Amino acid sequence: MKNYERFISFEGIDFCGKSTQTAILLETLQEKGINVHLLREPGGTIISEKVRSIILDKAHLEMHAKAEILLYSAARAQLVHQKLLPLLEEGEYIIADRFYDSTTAYQGYGRQLDVAFVQQLNHFATSGLRPAKTLFIDISPEEALRRQKAGERQKDRLENESARFFQLIYDGYQRLIKEAPERFIVIPGEDSIENVAKNIQETVFKIWNQE
Ligand code: TMP
Repeated sequence: MKNYERFISFEGIDFCGKSTQTAILLETLQEKGINVHLLREPGGTIISEKVRSIILDKAHLEMHAKAEILLYSAARAQLVHQKLLPLLEEGEYIIADRFYDSTTAYQGYGRQLDVAFVQQLNHFATSGLRPAKTLFIDISPEEALRRQKAGERQKDRLENESARFFQLIYDGYQRLIKEAPERFIVIPGEDSIENVAKNIQETVFKIWNQE
């Protein structure tokens, strides 16, 4: 297996259940004795976690879209070069809770920055590293808003955005899926946590040839 084939990313709009699902998957894979790491974006290194707290701080309402994308890219560049590439080099398995598709969907389509430039920036920040497969946990923007309203969880700066913003992001993801059907796998997300987890587990076992 080539090193990059050990790298899978997870994507989806806010409230799709990605963090819960990646945590369950991590545990399942570790129980099987697989050397796997879960990395979250933005974050995963000391520098990237500091950048994360700047980006998501609710007080930073004045943040310009250009500053925002550069911060996400800075966090990613640090994570890729300090941690992700060295781990892949050692033959470890990686699951990423978000990767560059989030930047294309949120900053490119959501904030309506130049998508071609965003993709160039993604390539620069990652030195061209691509996940072998990307699992998109699919919930509608309407379901995201329902979950947002029902939730007790404190919302960060991005989760306070409008319904229109989430629709733009969702539509952006749909375009990305259409453009790279060989990489994306759509996982229906409006089901019980257990059913979604089972689907993800079977999909990942298949990708990594596990029983
Ligand atoms: P999380 O909720 O999955 O932890 O992600 C944090 C927020 O950051 C979420 O609203 C999505 C957003 N985000 C971007 O806007 N661009 C990016 O490149 C990444 C990685 C996340």
